[in-house]
Amino acid sequence: MHYIEDLKQFIGKDVVLKGWVTKKRSSKGIEFIVLRDGTGFVQCVVDVSEAGEQVYEAARRLTQETAVQFKGNVIEDERQIGGVEVHVKEIEVIGPSQDYPITNKPHGIDFLLDHRHLWLRHRRPWAIMRIRNTVIFGIHQFFQQEGFVQADAPIFTPNAVEGTTTLFETMFYDRPAYLTQSGQLYGEAMAMAMGKIYTFGPTFRAEKSKTRRHLSEFWMIEPEMAFYDNEMNMDLIERFIKFVVSQVLEKNQLELELLERDTSILENTIKKPFPRITYDDAVAIIRGEQQVNGKTTIGLLEEMKANTEQRIQTLEKEIAEREKILEDTNLKQGKRNFIQNKVDTMKHELKELQEKLKNIPLWIDSAKNFEYGEDFGGADETALTSLFDTPIMVYNWPKAIKAFYMKEVPGRPDLVKGVDVLAPEGYGEIVGGSERESDFNILLDSIHKHGLPEKFFQWYLDLRRFGGVPHSGFGLGLERFVAWITKTYHVREVIPFPRYYGRLEP
Ligand code: 4AD
Ligand code: MG
Repeated sequence: MHYIEDLKQFIGKDVVLKGWVTKKRSSKGIEFIVLRDGTGFVQCVVDVSEAGEQVYEAARRLTQETAVQFKGNVIEDERQIGGVEVHVKEIEVIGPSQDYPITNKPHGIDFLLDHRHLWLRHRRPWAIMRIRNTVIFGIHQFFQQEGFVQADAPIFTPNAVEGTTTLFETMFYDRPAYLTQSGQLYGEAMAMAMGKIYTFGPTFRAEKSKTRRHLSEFWMIEPEMAFYDNEMNMDLIERFIKFVVSQVLEKNQLELELLERDTSILENTIKKPFPRITYDDAVAIIRGEQQVNGKTTIGLLEEMKANTEQRIQTLEKEIAEREKILEDTNLKQGKRNFIQNKVDTMKHELKELQEKLKNIPLWIDSAKNFEYGEDFGGADETALTSLFDTPIMVYNWPKAIKAFYMKEVPGRPDLVKGVDVLAPEGYGEIVGGSERESDFNILLDSIHKHGLPEKFFQWYLDLRRFGGVPHSGFGLGLERFVAWITKTYHVREVIPFPRYYGRLEP
């Protein structure tokens, strides 16, 4: 048996492929079948003059998602995905498939999500999951190379880490418990034992909002380092993101192409330093009071509005032209399908742009009126990051809006040494981190001020009672990161079986 991803090594040779029929097209005496086997996609040609009547008839009967074994010859063809084509000589059906529900017709997102167990077989999810895999492997590779120990935090917890509003309550035998929102506090304990550690596990947040950035169950990577201040933390974050993105660029060219991902921002990300901006400066930039490379957020958003309006006009014109062609009743079916598909794609883009156009004035408004001391909303993050072509790091945040464990900035008790990494292209916060408060009394005071039950934090305070040291760490949301890398609009599409407000199935 051979795998599609290896076919380039078998040009001119016979191979045996096992996979599923994903697409089929017929022409006179020839069946074109796109086969997928999990490692890739390949066009297989069944030509009656080569394969004979019997094999050709078998090919004609194949339906979408039938599992098959093909024996055939590999031919080089640069026009095809993977650069090869297989000329089939023998066909064997392994598993039949009748009335497969996901067809070539456009389907709504809810239909696709209801059929997630099948949708995963299709190109986009396939490419995204392969990139997710590279990201996960790259994360381990990076931290292992840097001498970190992977150490896991528990999932059942007695207390909150990131504030009490988003806890999922459950039962732990006869007492209430919560699903973890973050492994950080345990990570801190493990860092005092092992120096540099990282946790990598599922985390849970009861976010009753259906935004494109929120899941109820998501995966987080949380490194924690003893003797690191926030500067060192930021250096590590930057090296880490650069490494993982470089792995994707190296290993997933095919997938990025399938996703039509313009990779220039990813290339910049591995080459250019990430701008580091204090919260104070970020506020001035958001409001349009401070320029970046001669531009302001407000100016840029207005430019964006003009460009969007122009693109909408062009699209409307092109759609109208094509719809006129479709009115011709003599149009050949193949040509009709081709044009109809194009129109559907353009209408989809049009809808997104119209939505964006409606939003831009709101973004401008929100940016201009941003109040010092507030957390950034999605619109503010979009305005801020639109001025940059790499991720940026915003640090020194108002204490009032950040978690209880963050260390105060010396001489500025209103600020803490937190850092958020904001991804470009509207993806917003992908990393949240900080230096941790190492002063016992300030920390205890913070626990009280946040209304957290002191008794559950005794063990955490022990980390300051017994050899407390400066230490820092951060959390990267895997799905936010993969969504940005793959330029997928909604995080629910970058996890195999998403869980978010309103979705627990399949
Ligand atoms: O900023 P957050 O809340 O930070 C923490 O949990 C810290 N304890 C991390 C640390 O310092 N060890 O969350 C970290 C990241 C966010 O930047 C975001 O990428 C992701 O987790 N995240 C979510 N991703 C998907 N859905 C949600 N509901 C998310 N909430 C946070
Ligand atoms: Mg955060």
